[in-house]
Amino acid sequence: MTNIMRPEIDAIETSGITKVALPYMQDPDVIPLWFGEGDISTPEFIRDAAKAALDRGETYYQNSRGRPDTTRSIKAYLDRIYDIDLNPQRITQPGSSMLAVTIAVQTALGRGDHCVLVTPNWPNIELSCQIAGADISKVRQQVKNGQWHLDIDDVERAIRPTTRLIYVNSPCNPSGWVMPLDQMQRLLQICRDRNIMLLSDEVYHRHVFGVDVAPSFMTLANDDDPVVVVNGMSKAWAMTGWRLGWMVAPTYMVEQMTVFGQAFNTGSPSFTQDGLIAALDNGEEVVEQLRTMYRDNRDIVADALGNHERVEFVYPDGGFYAFPRIRGMNDSLDFVLKLAQTEKVGVAPGYTFGPGNEDHLRIAFACSSDRLREAMKRVVRFIDAMD
Ligand SMILES: Cc1ncc(COP(=O)(O)O)c(C=O)c1O
Repeated sequence: MTNIMRPEIDAIETSGITKVALPYMQDPDVIPLWFGEGDISTPEFIRDAAKAALDRGETYYQNSRGRPDTTRSIKAYLDRIYDIDLNPQRITQPGSSMLAVTIAVQTALGRGDHCVLVTPNWPNIELSCQIAGADISKVRQQVKNGQWHLDIDDVERAIRPTTRLIYVNSPCNPSGWVMPLDQMQRLLQICRDRNIMLLSDEVYHRHVFGVDVAPSFMTLANDDDPVVVVNGMSKAWAMTGWRLGWMVAPTYMVEQMTVFGQAFNTGSPSFTQDGLIAALDNGEEVVEQLRTMYRDNRDIVADALGNHERVEFVYPDGGFYAFPRIRGMNDSLDFVLKLAQTEKVGVAPGYTFGPGNEDHLRIAFACSSDRLREAMKRVVRFIDAMD
């Protein structure tokens, strides 16, 4: 048999998160802290809005850019939280944030083009760039004075004549790093000067502690700047299964991106868009409640690991992940598989978030507090039992 797969597809691998989750997902005794979601389902008023749309018979094809009333809600939401007056012509709602990322990536990148990913990184961004056939460079955040920090000079040094895209995710999955506005300004200027797409993944924008919303390229980028900001419903409104996200792109790109989206799923299901509208128009309380819960959960994880002699723990400023370094651990996949097997807790192995992370774990702390407390007891017991 001749292998007829494109080399880029032949080479891709499932992430380390799936490698640990798949064998243990059906085990009811395992407390799952591996995926980027909690155990609270979408609030009732959002589900009701989608149910009502179904009952009205909202089952037809829609504008693949998103319905006009969906675009209106996204604009009103962004205007409100960032105090801007966004040109609605920049908004597309193709389906999930993941899909928006893939559309943005393939709009800028083809085989042989170069991109720079800020790491530790969410594994799917790498997958998306690999599928496009791009050459990938990684620039790692470093821990300085007990905090994650990105050196923009490192990003600048990684740029080549073939660089077409720089990806940054703040608040960051998995490190919890939040990019300050002055760094955003500098990175934007670099991308303007060199005509590089700046892909800013802001899906954790409301999961910052101490302020209402994280610094954003939404407040910096003009209509024609080479910036695409991706965001979506999954995290701030507990809507992971709905597959709803959007992007804000330069005006001249949006029509082509919309046509491109037609080659994927031709827009998101119409009745789910009623859920999006309900959440964006009336969901501030939900955002607030989830954020309070995640802040308390962050403290549960910090109390368990913060002073452990084997653990280097950086307090996350945003997101809902902890990314501790475990001294003496040198095979993160082996570690998390044994943790799932013996202590029945599922976490993600560090290696899957890019090089330099083999001695890290990612703990998603979005689940209810009682389960998290129990899970952390088991994680500590497992670390204590290490040689
Ligand atoms: C950094 C980051 N970007 C994008 C996504 C995708 O989100 P969605 O569920 O909206 O596709 C995730 C999901 O975990 C993520 O962690």
